[in-house]
Amino acid sequence: MRIRTAVLGIFTLVGISQAQTPAPPKAAAKSATKSAAKAAAPASRNPATLAQLMKGILFPSSNVIFFAQSDNPNDVPQAKDPALAVNPLASSYGKWEAVENAGLAITEAANLLTVPGRKCSNGLPVPVTNADWPKLVQGLRDAGMAAYKAAQSKNQDKILDASDVMTTACANCHDKYREKPTPAGRCK
Ligand code: HEC
Repeated sequence: MRIRTAVLGIFTLVGISQAQTPAPPKAAAKSATKSAAKAAAPASRNPATLAQLMKGILFPSSNVIFFAQSDNPNDVPQAKDPALAVNPLASSYGKWEAVENAGLAITEAANLLTVPGRKCSNGLPVPVTNADWPKLVQGLRDAGMAAYKAAQSKNQDKILDASDVMTTACANCHDKYREKPTPAGRCK
């Protein structure tokens, strides 16, 4: 009997308080010089904190993959109006296709974790220049592709393996950069 895996530790005390703490407001732009405004431009193209990216893309997408460990996506009935479905598995692009696209979404979203100028929820820059960061991001990219291929094969055993790869990729980075005694310790 294989054990169904999922990303644990998201709802630790730090996680909850962090999740509910909005990012500190940016410094007032009034006194900013033209060059300072220029330097701030990349941040405005990438307005999400790292935590917001995780909650908006990685968390929902990985859950679609984890679902397929114990439930066959083919058995998910289409929503009454599949074009308006909020559950990808029950949508117009549902069942195994939803699992395929969740894997691809994660691989593509990995690139967003490497964009310079993005902040973590505690205001620190995402540590994109740390030596291990690109490797941890590559782990996520590979995990997304493993899930994509497993979904293409419509084989739940392969999804179990891909889910293991996925949870390991998430945990490898969280262990180093997220699981800290206080939110201030994250992202360094
Ligand atoms: C390369 C590093 C990295 C990878 C890979 C990664 N995370 Fe994260 N994750 C973080 C960091 C760092 C934070 C805290 C970010 C912040 O506070 O802005 C975080 C925060 C989160 C949060 C927000 C909750 C909280 O405690 O703030 C969720 C949800 C989350 N990650 C889910 C995932 C899932 C699911 C995966 C895998 C599919 C994943 N993450 C992969 C680094 C990573």
